[in-house]
Amino acid sequence: KKILLLNGPNLNLLGTREPDKYGNKTLADIESSLSAYVSEKDAKLSCYQSNHEGDLVDRIQQAKEEGIDAVIINPGAYTHTSIAIRDAFLSVQIPFVEVHLSNIFKREAFRHHSYLSDIAQGCVIGLGAKGYFLAADALLDN
Ligand code: DQA
Repeated sequence: KKILLLNGPNLNLLGTREPDKYGNKTLADIESSLSAYVSEKDAKLSCYQSNHEGDLVDRIQQAKEEGIDAVIINPGAYTHTSIAIRDAFLSVQIPFVEVHLSNIFKREAFRHHSYLSDIAQGCVIGLGAKGYFLAADALLDN
């Protein structure tokens, strides 16, 4: 299986960005340990991060051409704003799991709504970087 890990805006700053909310691991740490984890399960991980909404849309469209089987996405703040990312997933029909490091429901009201959750296979919220691994388990253990 081919899995794509997508991270949205400001997640390139993981490790230094509000570590009380998002933890001490860098995105590079997460990407390399998740790649190793996924290859133990005979799958392959591709990783992409962008601060730009259209780039994330382009990457989701490209995933279809590449034959990506499933996506793990932390859309960052685009979770709460992006109809374009929602429409990209509806267009390609690739199953995805939505991950949030922090518990968005414990936070400001504007973070309580996601444009993706109702079309996701599932969501892992508030469990830190472990959420990415749980998402991979869900997509691969079947
Ligand atoms: C986040 C939660 C979002 O509300 C926020 O904008 C982020 C990170 C999380 O992983 O907890 O950038 O997606």
